Amino acid sequence: MTDAGALIECNDVTKQYDGGPAALSGLDLRIRAGEALAVLGPSGSGKSTLLNLVAGLDRPTRGTVTVDGVRVDRLGEAASARYRRERIGMIFQFFNLLDDLTVLDNVLLPAQLAGVPRQKARHRADELLGYLGISRHAKAFPGRLSGGERQRVAVARALMNRPPLLLADEPTGALDTASGQEVRKLLTELNRDGQTLLLVTHDLALAEACATRTIELVDGRLVQEVVR
Ligand SMILES: Nc1ncnc2c1ncn2[C@@H]1O[C@H](COP(=O)(O)OP(=O)(O)OP(=O)(O)O)[C@@H](O)[C@H]1O
Ligand SMILES: [Mg+2]
Repeated sequence: MTDAGALIECNDVTKQYDGGPAALSGLDLRIRAGEALAVLGPSGSGKSTLLNLVAGLDRPTRGTVTVDGVRVDRLGEAASARYRRERIGMIFQFFNLLDDLTVLDNVLLPAQLAGVPRQKARHRADELLGYLGISRHAKAFPGRLSGGERQRVAVARALMNRPPLLLADEPTGALDTASGQEVRKLLTELNRDGQTLLLVTHDLALAEACATRTIELVDGRLVQEVVR
């Protein structure tokens, strides 16, 4: 059954890599637009696997993944890349910025790939850099920024094409306390402004600050759900 109110819907999702134990096992999960869902769980419990399936970077062995009306588990390579470009923003533990590009060019990249006219993209980038408090670093290279600043650049890039869904894998994992605090606050504000978040984290402070709902995975199964 599909749920008309769900932005993300995983039905009986199992993922098994090369005959190993299941990384995800019969997972049922629905996330509504506007939610901030934090996924907790020990190392190896399937958290990143879940994000990869939702992002269309990998396919489930069984079950279906539907995001914003798109059957992500059935997309071919080109459609999958387009799906990510148009509907998904991703942020990672280690930023994944291109060090040879300036901050501004990193942020502009998703718009360029989507064929957005330069002028329009530039306007959006300026707006995001301002919103995230990093305008003064626009012409700098990422290597010169602090961890928290780099993660804000990554968030700006992720938001460039106004994705309905923002995915984050350990976004505070590589940050010191102050930078982590910055990113927690930023993600909380984004969700308050209506951005849907799917957040994988070991950081309980992040889950507590930001999540409207928390689930815990153990051995690829959902063991606990806390609604706040
Ligand atoms: N590409 C892959 N090939 C084979 N096995 C994989 C692959 N990716 C993940 N796994 C296995 O699937 C299981 C779940 O991995 P996953 O990366 O989802 O865990 P995680 O919860 O994100 O862990 P961590 O907190 O350490 O990031 C692990 O046993 C892992 O070894
Ligand atoms: Mg992981």
